[in-house]
Amino acid sequence: MTIIIILLIFLAKVDANLSHGMSLNSHAACPENEKQALVNFKKGLIDEANPLASWDPHHHPDCCRWFGVVCDNMTGHILSLNLSVPPLDEDNLKSRLTSKLEGKINPCLSNLKHLRFLDLSGNQFEGLLPYQLGNLSNLQYLNLGDNVLYVQSLQWLSGIPLLKHFDLSPMDLSRASNWLQLINTVLPSLEELHLSLVNLYQDLHC
Ligand SMILES: *[C@@H]1O[C@H](CO)[C@@H](O)[C@H](O)[C@H]1NC(C)=O
Ligand SMILES: *[C@@H]1O[C@H](CO)[C@@H](O)[C@H](O)[C@H]1NC(C)=O
Ligand SMILES: *[C@@H]1O[C@H](CO)[C@@H](O)[C@H](O)[C@H]1NC(C)=O
Ligand SMILES: *[C@@H]1O[C@H](CO)[C@@H](O)[C@H](O)[C@H]1NC(C)=O
Repeated sequence: MTIIIILLIFLAKVDANLSHGMSLNSHAACPENEKQALVNFKKGLIDEANPLASWDPHHHPDCCRWFGVVCDNMTGHILSLNLSVPPLDEDNLKSRLTSKLEGKINPCLSNLKHLRFLDLSGNQFEGLLPYQLGNLSNLQYLNLGDNVLYVQSLQWLSGIPLLKHFDLSPMDLSRASNWLQLINTVLPSLEELHLSLVNLYQDLHC
């Protein structure tokens, strides 16, 4: 009887140590709606070199382990999405040409409500930038530079008051009439801004 009790206590301790160790080494899995947002985002993309191979909910259920994704260790919420392709140089010419993502930015990304860093620079994202990104109210860093995107308005930026770094270059801002006023008034935290001035004044004629 005594032996059994000692054995039970021993097993309980092993178990406690195991679960303690587990909680140190792993983190909460990402929430289902955030995973779904990434899956929908991927559906709209041409991913020739397959950099998003790990974005497969059947083989890798925890999207915190997907390429480019960083989650909060405790809550599992996605804090950072970085799919940036580094700037061109001779060494990475080949990899850059094959690893770019092409396609439209799905408005579903706005479901990543806890996102602080979004870096999609250096790809071939094209078309109208979804104004729903204005729902990413925790965003501090937004880099969409070096894509083929344009905006109709920058009104949606007013939903991102914590934004410190904002890169849209080179982007066709010709349809964004109120951009300068907005940037001055709605982005009090902004420390860095990268904009291409190309096309801004295309309505001016002599
Ligand atoms: C559990 O961990 C403690 C230190 O964290 C260690 O002293 C103890 O021997 C461990 N117990 C077992 C059963 O592994
Ligand atoms: C999560 O934990 C790792 C170590 O396991 C640490 O390096 C990292 O900074 C933590 N990240 C956050 C967001 O707390
Ligand atoms: C994203 O990753 C690239 C390297 O792949 C790095 O240069 C860049 O600073 C990262 N962006 C953020 C916001 O961490
Ligand atoms: C932002 O989120 C709110 C509440 O979650 C929702 O009602 C609204 O439609 C969203 N707006 C955009 C532009 O996605």
